[in-house]
Amino acid sequence: MSSHIESLEASTDYDKNNPTNSNISAPKSDDEDAPSSKKIEEHTSVVAAHYNHLKEKGLKERFNSPIFYLRNFNNWVKSVLIQEYTDKIREKDYGKPLKVLDICCGKGGDLSKWQKARVERVIFADIAKVSVQQCETRYEDLRRRCGHLYSAEFIAADCTKDTLRDKYADPSINFDIVSCQFGFHYSFESLIQARRMLTNISECLKPDGYFFGTIPDAYEIVSRAQKSQNFAFGNRIFNIKLLFDPKEGYPLFGAKYDFHLEGVVDCPEFLVNFDLLVKLAAEYGLELVYKARFSDFYKDHTEKYKQLLQRIICFESYPARPGKELIGEPSEYEHARIIWDEMDKSNTRDCIGTMSVCEWEVATIYMAFAFKKQKHVWDSNGKPSYITSADKK
Ligand SMILES: C[S@@+](CC[C@H](N)C(=O)[O-])C[C@H]1O[C@@H](n2cnc3c(N)ncnc32)[C@H](O)[C@@H]1O
Repeated sequence: MSSHIESLEASTDYDKNNPTNSNISAPKSDDEDAPSSKKIEEHTSVVAAHYNHLKEKGLKERFNSPIFYLRNFNNWVKSVLIQEYTDKIREKDYGKPLKVLDICCGKGGDLSKWQKARVERVIFADIAKVSVQQCETRYEDLRRRCGHLYSAEFIAADCTKDTLRDKYADPSINFDIVSCQFGFHYSFESLIQARRMLTNISECLKPDGYFFGTIPDAYEIVSRAQKSQNFAFGNRIFNIKLLFDPKEGYPLFGAKYDFHLEGVVDCPEFLVNFDLLVKLAAEYGLELVYKARFSDFYKDHTEKYKQLLQRIICFESYPARPGKELIGEPSEYEHARIIWDEMDKSNTRDCIGTMSVCEWEVATIYMAFAFKKQKHVWDSNGKPSYITSADKK
């Protein structure tokens, strides 16, 4: 297992990989390895078309979804991130009205999470126009239902190519939080796109503000792909196939793979070399303060957010409750059956909260991260020089 990881880690040495510059620089237009603008155009429209055509699911459909618990678990992770980082900002200034950029917002899966976090204003941005319209409609519905709600703005834009600040009603706005949930990896198609995305994320983020999000963990994907045949793996609810040959190395950008997740995602995505992201983000004054795979994120936060786990039904009851069926095949609950049998022996039988192996295999592909925006001073060339936590020591 170590060999593929070493090669992935080795590829983060961008000084070596980029013989022309000790910094990560934008590929030149005549660079053969740089994806052509036509190719990038094609890919982003595939992504936009895919998300635009995703049907909105009703409550009944969501209840019968084969990824019901996975969706809820993902929502738990996002809720915890939002709660944790809004709390951190409020620790310093309790009554502060918080402003947020929800980048790659989709149909507004986090609309009500921002309401619970009592923020003042949210700008929602996404490449998929239809999704942005649905997000706005859902916002209006929520406002009607709850009377008072944060103010909002909705922007349809390619956040890996457009300058978002030019599109804000108030271009002088400063955010306390930028959240990018399950979307940042689309920017790793090319260095130029990753840079544009990071500019959009960081340029209006206040010093001491947070940028957090969730992405597929490249390490985990590569690790599973290496163990599989044809660099493809999956189960009844998801499939991933690498679209490049890892034997020829891992591209820093444009490491494309096909991702199919039952009823939610069916389009190509890009691996995010996380070490590279950390180095690149530092150039934008963003310092990594937290990262964890979802399995570790769960361990880190389960005690504090136990009630929320139960409230949003992240786990399935094993055995199935009377009159109900398990969502997966019996073989997907071996882990729960063993515990259940143990409980039987000790006469402490109670229902177990669990997830089918198939759903957990998807959940554990993802990771969560958080960066903190550093304060800066201007250098003699008029460029920002960021003060990292190491400098403060
Ligand atoms: C898996 S969805 C996540 C949506 C939402 N953040 C959530 O958690 O429910 C990924 C989103 O990223 C958006 N996206 C992909 N590429 C993008 C780009 N270049 N600019 C802006 N949004 C993009 C897609 O349109 C889609 O809505």
